[in-house]
Amino acid sequence: MNNANPAVGLRTSVDEDGLNRSRHLTRIAEGAARAAGAPLLAAFRSEMTVDYKRDLHDVVTIHDRNAEALIRDFIFESEPNSAMLGEEGGQVGEGEIQWYVDPIDGTANFARGLAFWCVSIAAVEQGAVVAGVVYDPVADLLFSSDIRRSYLNGKVIASKSVSEESRATLITGYPVSRDFRLDGRVVALSRFGELVETFSTVRRPGSAALSIAHVAAGFVDAAAGFGVNAWDVAAATLILKNAGGRYQPLTLGKVPADSADYLCPGYLAYGAGADYPTLNRVAQAISDGRTARTPTP
Ligand code: IPD
Ligand code: CA
Ligand code: CA
Repeated sequence: MNNANPAVGLRTSVDEDGLNRSRHLTRIAEGAARAAGAPLLAAFRSEMTVDYKRDLHDVVTIHDRNAEALIRDFIFESEPNSAMLGEEGGQVGEGEIQWYVDPIDGTANFARGLAFWCVSIAAVEQGAVVAGVVYDPVADLLFSSDIRRSYLNGKVIASKSVSEESRATLITGYPVSRDFRLDGRVVALSRFGELVETFSTVRRPGSAALSIAHVAAGFVDAAAGFGVNAWDVAAATLILKNAGGRYQPLTLGKVPADSADYLCPGYLAYGAGADYPTLNRVAQAISDGRTARTPTP
């Protein structure tokens, strides 16, 4: 076809190249997540030793480390031009595609036998998330996204939420003991109380990646987190956005205001149609308090 405007033809081919590339990376992430999911599923609810990282609330098992090593090998074999930041092993490699990997998001659940945990894998190119996979091996739910659409087990998903917060279900881990230290125990519990009274239902399932993926699939109305890392949320941000939801990052005084969404330590995840004033107000109060207490450099 002879395109009268060369710029249009150029953009189309760039977009198609970008989409093909994104699909290629998504397939790698899916393969790695499924490959790691099988041994994790076999280990789930078996006897296992639990180690502690920062404190008694921060658990890790040999299965986290083994799964991350398996994912790392899978990614570097499939796409040698890679670098990877994993929760357990840190940064490895110097390639142009930056991967963010949480081998088990929800380790406390995994280690105890509670079926709400997942493998989370994202690929970032030039600062933007271009592929994301969140895989729950117990329920065999594979949430994925390329730069165009989001899928659950290969079928396109669209988020949907009720418009009134009084009828909505919110999932959040807030507050944990770290939030008591940062925000004050009484203040944090009173904010949690406000959410419990306002929303129809508040749940604390314990995996940020899987929580956001549930919003993307329309299984819950909203999710919120106030202490996450890129490996927790990078994949899920893309899955939510391309399912029509809204990911609102919160800098919480920790990162510059122009930081990429997935590099921010807090978030609100809304399904299409949702915008909840009480949740917005609580998030703003947490953000203002932490920002005010952040020492200026
Ligand atoms: C944690 C979970 C939890 C979130 C924490 C994460 P981990 O990850 O996602 O829901 O509130 O911020 O650190 O330790 O289970 O991989
Ligand atoms: Ca995690
Ligand atoms: Ca983890």
